[in-house]
Amino acid sequence: MSDSPTDVPAPTAEDITTVMPPLSRREQRRIMKGAGPRDWVPPTVATHPDSGMPLAPGAPGARPYANADQYGGAILATPQGQQQVSGAESARSFEQQLLAVDDRPPLAELDAQNISAWFGDHQVLDRVSLTMPAGVITSLIGPSGCGKSTFLRILNRMHELIPSASLAGEVLLDGEDIYDPSRKLVDARKHIGMVFQKPNPFPAMSIYDNVLAGLKLTGTRADRDRRDYLVETCLTKAGLWKEVRDRLRAPGGGLSGGQQQRLCIARSLAVTPKVLLMDEPCSALDPTSTRVIEETMLELVDDVTIVIVTHNMQQAQRVSTQCAFFLAAQGQPGHIVEHGSTEAMFSSPIDSRTFDYVNGVFG
Ligand SMILES: Nc1ncnc2c1ncn2[C@@H]1O[C@H](COP(=O)(O)OP(=O)(O)O)[C@@H](O)[C@H]1O
Ligand SMILES: [Mg+2]
Repeated sequence: MSDSPTDVPAPTAEDITTVMPPLSRREQRRIMKGAGPRDWVPPTVATHPDSGMPLAPGAPGARPYANADQYGGAILATPQGQQQVSGAESARSFEQQLLAVDDRPPLAELDAQNISAWFGDHQVLDRVSLTMPAGVITSLIGPSGCGKSTFLRILNRMHELIPSASLAGEVLLDGEDIYDPSRKLVDARKHIGMVFQKPNPFPAMSIYDNVLAGLKLTGTRADRDRRDYLVETCLTKAGLWKEVRDRLRAPGGGLSGGQQQRLCIARSLAVTPKVLLMDEPCSALDPTSTRVIEETMLELVDDVTIVIVTHNMQQAQRVSTQCAFFLAAQGQPGHIVEHGSTEAMFSSPIDSRTFDYVNGVFG
């Protein structure tokens, strides 16, 4: 047998299945517009100089696919059977890719209307209204004690867990009142996830089981393949997969603080929420972990609407599109002084108290 390229079985273009990472919505939109996904270069396959047919990788003259390792590699169907060319570890079939796309619930808007809240007879929020648009990060800023966490807990029906707590107003998820008596509490929690200030994985439970912990709570069944798939995709979305894929059975409590927080994000994502609420998710983390979480949020917002409470003004500017400034005067309930685009809130706020707060005059 000669080594000449003509002896290499030449696959047709249809034989080549490229395997890409799960596509974000933004990438899907770009592809629908005819553009390739961001950062993704279509595989370049060496072609035979005469026939123009693609050459199998490994064949004389063939080059590896561009970007293939970074994006999962490619599978080449040849008359000898399927051939994994590179990036084998993370390669997935297109069918699975499509599954991943179908998995995503449509983006949802959260709308709080005239929310007032009390602990006993102590009113802590007074008629707070805020629309948190679909697919956008909204940041809630303001000094301690002005009711930001209370507001967040009202957004996923956690406020009612506190015995003395009561509230007035409406929370609409895509126009449907989450407090409607005919709606189940568990639905609100499933659609609207929460990540807390202090990472709270189940410390003795494995990383794998931590990710899936929410399924039991929401009564969702999943077979083994589906569970494996969920664990990988949620950890990938949370930016943790590469760091833990070799120790999925190790306890969640053994991870660093930043990793634990990303594990908690992965756990929230496993029940495919429409909204993710984050209450000062980075305040217990070092700057590097903080940046990783911020990058994760910016990736996630293609799939979920995000609301974050933060005392870090740089963080609010880095991650959020919209911002609301909460304030409570001495002995008075909290309210929203001003809200709008983050850019405008920081560069040209209307209210002098907003100006003072974002510039660190008080807080
Ligand atoms: N479980 C609770 N019981 C009684 N009062 C509470 C409780 N949680 C918060 N508060 C009070 O509600 C007000 C708002 O608190 P919070 O929502 O935690 O504000 P923030 O998150 O902006 O710091 C504060 O006066 C706080 O003391
Ligand atoms: Mg708080």
